[in-house]
Amino acid sequence: MSAMNSLHLMLIVLMTVIAATQGIKCWFCNSMLDPFCRDPFDNSTANPKDCEIAEELAHLPNVPATMCRKIRMKVNGHWRFKRDCARLGEAGVGGDTRYCIYRSGTFNIHMEYCTCNDKDGCNSVSHNKPNIQLVTTTSTIFMVLIARWLLR
Ligand SMILES: *[C@@H]1O[C@H](CO)[C@@H](O)[C@H](O)[C@H]1NC(C)=O
Repeated sequence: MSAMNSLHLMLIVLMTVIAATQGIKCWFCNSMLDPFCRDPFDNSTANPKDCEIAEELAHLPNVPATMCRKIRMKVNGHWRFKRDCARLGEAGVGGDTRYCIYRSGTFNIHMEYCTCNDKDGCNSVSHNKPNIQLVTTTSTIFMVLIARWLLR
């Protein structure tokens, strides 16, 4: 193999490795600070975040962020939105990203949690599909955690 060919081969291998390790990009915003973060999402002033180079969570080292998420939560009668990378759980509900997890709880708290990994910026989608009601005994703790994260 000529030197030129090996160089080509090396470049191709390198580019493949880079492509393979490149994380998904997700929209990153909080409607408390960024009005455009609400549904329907306006990406013209939004910031995409590369989840691969996003900061590691201190309590979740080495867990790569491979999904995007959108959370919508009604607090005191107002919907708040937050979009970010996501690490845990599966994309969508039962693998179907058209669906979100929906919870309503006491104190008129409503929460919708959507995850996706089908393409970069997939957390821009407004969901019109019926929501899946999450039925678990841990849901109250889950909602408190989400609320803390959302209001942070
Ligand atoms: C922004 O939104 C427009 C219109 O929905 C879409 O065509 C475009 O691909 C989006 N841009 C990005 C970077 O996702």
